Amino acid sequence: MGSAFARFLAKNHQVFLCGKDPEKLKSLSKEIGAPSVTTEEGSKKADVIILAFKPKDLKKAALEFSKHVTEGKIILSILSGADTSVLQSLFPKAHIVRTMPNLALTCGEGIIGVSDNLPPDVRTKVDELLEGMGLVYFLPEAKMEAFTALCGSSPAFIFVILEAMMEGGVALGFSFKDSTELVIKAFEGAIALLKATGSHPAELKMQISSPGGTTIAGLNEMELQGVRSGLIKTLFACYHRSVEMSKEQKS
Ligand SMILES: NC(=O)c1ccc[n+]([C@@H]2O[C@H](COP(=O)([O-])OP(=O)(O)OC[C@H]3O[C@@H](n4cnc5c(N)ncnc54)[C@H](OP(=O)(O)O)[C@@H]3O)[C@@H](O)[C@H]2O)c1
Repeated sequence: MGSAFARFLAKNHQVFLCGKDPEKLKSLSKEIGAPSVTTEEGSKKADVIILAFKPKDLKKAALEFSKHVTEGKIILSILSGADTSVLQSLFPKAHIVRTMPNLALTCGEGIIGVSDNLPPDVRTKVDELLEGMGLVYFLPEAKMEAFTALCGSSPAFIFVILEAMMEGGVALGFSFKDSTELVIKAFEGAIALLKATGSHPAELKMQISSPGGTTIAGLNEMELQGVRSGLIKTLFACYHRSVEMSKEQKS
């Protein structure tokens, strides 16, 4: 995720790369033409510092460089579960920007949730930095865990649904290659319809279902298998884990 931010930001900004793995840094540095520097050097030079390590590494990393994070610098965090108060206690002089991106930003189709507790000048700077990454969605910090479930982690859930339908296509006699292509097109078509009509999904669903027909037979089986409730519970499991991680960061 850190590499994705670096690749994107290096197009219009001076980026300094910091990390633990020299080989990874060397190859990314060569790819995007950004110098790799020590964490100390990077935190002294940069006016915006992006935290993209695992949440468990937060306290150790903060010890390494927080003293260089002086007044007016921005700490932009993408760490799950690390809330503004925890980050502020570790970087007391910085403006904290808590965000939650999803992986689709690597292809410009991401969503990045940004906690809306920012002073206007910091918000302008963040808007300018993230423009072009995908949808930038400002939200109250209290909703960040719910946002993590709905947008940060949800591409993984969508991949499971896609994979299951692709396998279903193979079971019905299509090659995996054809099944993949057809399922992706069916998803794209459904999303395009939803956007073009502005209709409720239930309305579109009933347009496809003739009485006693094939689609309603499939929909009935989905209900019997608990697909809808399973998906809702999936989001809640993810949300609860995010709340738990947030508590762990505070302890
Ligand atoms: N992946 C997603 O879809 C997603 C979505 C939303 C948010 N996030 C958040 O993004 C963060 C990164 O996730 P990821 O999947 O990209 O993890 P990742 O691939 O493991 O990347 C973490 C990177 O941080 C480096 N690192 C560790 N300690 C460091 C330190 N003290 N200073 C500088 N670099 C350090 C690691 O180096 P080494 O490999 O050498 O240890 C590694 O390159 C997590 O906090 C996660 O919650 C991820």
